[in-house]
Amino acid sequence: MAVDLLLGLQWGDEGKGKIVDVLTANYNIIARFQGGPNAGHTLEFDGIKHVLHTIPSGIFHENAINLVGNGVVIDPVIFKKELDNLKKFDLDYKSKLLISRKAHIILPTHRLLDAASETAKGKAKIGSTLKGIGPTYMDKTGRNGLRIGDLEMSDWKEKYRNLANKHESMISYYGVDIQYNLRELEKDFFEAVEVLKTLTFIDSEEYLHRAQKDSKTILAEGAQGSLLDIDFGTYPFVTSSNTTAAGACTGLGIAPNQIGEVFGIFKAYATRVGSGPFPTELFDEDGKRMAKIGNEFGATTGRPRRCGWLDLVALKYAVQVNGVTQLMMMKGDVLSGFDTLKVCTGYNYKGEEIEHLPYNIEEDNLSPIYKEIKGWKEDLTKMSDESQFPQAFKDYIAFIEEELQVPIKIVSVGPDRKQTIMR
Ligand code: GDP
Ligand code: IMO
Ligand code: MG
Repeated sequence: MAVDLLLGLQWGDEGKGKIVDVLTANYNIIARFQGGPNAGHTLEFDGIKHVLHTIPSGIFHENAINLVGNGVVIDPVIFKKELDNLKKFDLDYKSKLLISRKAHIILPTHRLLDAASETAKGKAKIGSTLKGIGPTYMDKTGRNGLRIGDLEMSDWKEKYRNLANKHESMISYYGVDIQYNLRELEKDFFEAVEVLKTLTFIDSEEYLHRAQKDSKTILAEGAQGSLLDIDFGTYPFVTSSNTTAAGACTGLGIAPNQIGEVFGIFKAYATRVGSGPFPTELFDEDGKRMAKIGNEFGATTGRPRRCGWLDLVALKYAVQVNGVTQLMMMKGDVLSGFDTLKVCTGYNYKGEEIEHLPYNIEEDNLSPIYKEIKGWKEDLTKMSDESQFPQAFKDYIAFIEEELQVPIKIVSVGPDRKQTIMR
């Protein structure tokens, strides 16, 4: 059985958690392949809202196995909190939630290093979630990291100590004033590690190969979005992992020829949290309206998300890099009530019209070219079939499909599981 992928096509927060939850009904295994607790994946059902950071979004389905893959970085302290929040659901974690031995661990000092690095950057800061993601991936590629499998060895605390000591001298290298009490942080960390150790650690690539042979259906869940990819995003304002389709191969041990459908998910407009270029960003009433109606606040940090019009140039790029086979459009309901909508179809770049993302997309040398599209007034949130959609919304969908040459198979019209329309 091929492995299907679901990934974000913009700057994250497209609604991945909601759709993974909906699709889990069709899958045996849901596997996260990269990122860590910088992610905040929201799902809503039965009037309750859940935000997951490391645990895959299939966790509420009794029959699915949820796997945290080797490409993910895990903070035991946050993981423990996530488990605590799920306690009331009486889930069988020992058999339903599996963790790859090869996943790397976020140390308390990784978080401190993140803070030191951001402070030292001053105005040029990335706007990191400060969860220690960058420093942990640096230790992974630097071949210094502590992995989940190490926790099964007797000398792991020694490894931990050596790494933490090194981090402390690195923190002082930055020469910034970071206040911390490592003893306190370590107390929480060691406690949380003991909780983590009650879960099942596995050789996940082996497990997934066997599952494929046994005809199990597998959905790989991405975190962040394609424009935050370490290679293909708006570098350096990106995260530290490959958020695009190739990341699922390295983050789970799935061969490229084993990938089936690639579900690309996007909002009907665009948002970004943190610093970095955002060509279609709005600073006017339209942007404020999207933020308010869309409730655009980060699920992990609570920071307000920057809002703007849909950027089809960037979306086309993401569709290409990922090989998207099906699209999912989220939050169309938020756009109800605009007289006119704008969609970016090209850029003016250094006096020239272009239709691709240039290397340098700083505001000074690039401005969006918009096509105007008629808006609609109707409230979409109670609609349960596309035949109920106003014509202008149908036209908006058709225009995007035509531009991207990929069908939009799911249209989401609200945060709840039920507000999902299959086409
Ligand atoms: P993720 O990181 O991709 O999982 O997305 P987030 O959970 O960070 O952000 C998406 C937000 O939009 C969450 O608050 C969802 O509950 C909400 N949401 C998802 N789909 C829709 C939709 O179709 N309409 C509206 N109004 N909200 C949605
Ligand atoms: P989900 O999975 C939106 C952004 C941060 C910052 C940059 C680097 O919920 O879509 P990092 O913490 O990785 O050092 O931050 O990436 N960022 C996200 N933005 N959604 C996310 O995840 C994000 N994860 C990281 O805001 O700009
Ligand atoms: Mg999110």
